[in-house]
Amino acid sequence: MDYINIALPKGRLTNKALNLFEKLDIKFEDYTKESRKLIFENTTEKLRVVAVKATDVPIYVEQGAADIGIAGKDVLLESGASVFELMDLGFGKCRFVVASLKNNELDINKKLRVATKYPNVAKKYFHQQGIPIETIKLNGSVELAPIIGLSDVIVDIVETGTTLKENGLVVTDEICQISSRLIINRASLKTKAKQIDKIIKGIQGII
Ligand code: PRP
Repeated sequence: MDYINIALPKGRLTNKALNLFEKLDIKFEDYTKESRKLIFENTTEKLRVVAVKATDVPIYVEQGAADIGIAGKDVLLESGASVFELMDLGFGKCRFVVASLKNNELDINKKLRVATKYPNVAKKYFHQQGIPIETIKLNGSVELAPIIGLSDVIVDIVETGTTLKENGLVVTDEICQISSRLIINRASLKTKAKQIDKIIKGIQGII
């Protein structure tokens, strides 16, 4: 029997994702929070966890390097990867929003400058609104961009709203709701059907 490879996002979703497997009595014994190890195995169940950067989960699953993955809908929308999105896991809830400085007046004669970690999502959203934009791709601390004059607005995810608030930004538009999803490699659904079905049924039972 082949191993089932599971791509889990490093960061804020790691514990919630591992809790899901713990509830199914699946433990990855060599996993510790402090460890710098990136691969963990459960030899009894023939499961292998690969801990990857959250934004890379869809690629691992699309390419078949992982059979299963847990990814935020934000990351899935941005990557456009061809994976089978099986289930909303109900955690990692947040919102995709447009935000700007309080009392910010936009010059409608100028192209809107949008700083974001999600340029594809931003382009699609503003295109649908008929608003031409210039995207500025950042990899973090996006809230800084309007403060420092790098952009007019940001497109980002908001969970508690604390980061926006503490930096004097307000939500001007909501794009959509986000949550974590269970994704499956399309070929693995057939080639490892039995093992994957067992995991899916187990997760469905606890969600
Ligand atoms: C995300 C997001 C916001 C923040 C929102 O960033 O890009 O900056 O979380 O969370 P809040 O509404 O609860 O304040 P992350 O923490 O992943 O860090 P980053 O800026 O380095 O990407």
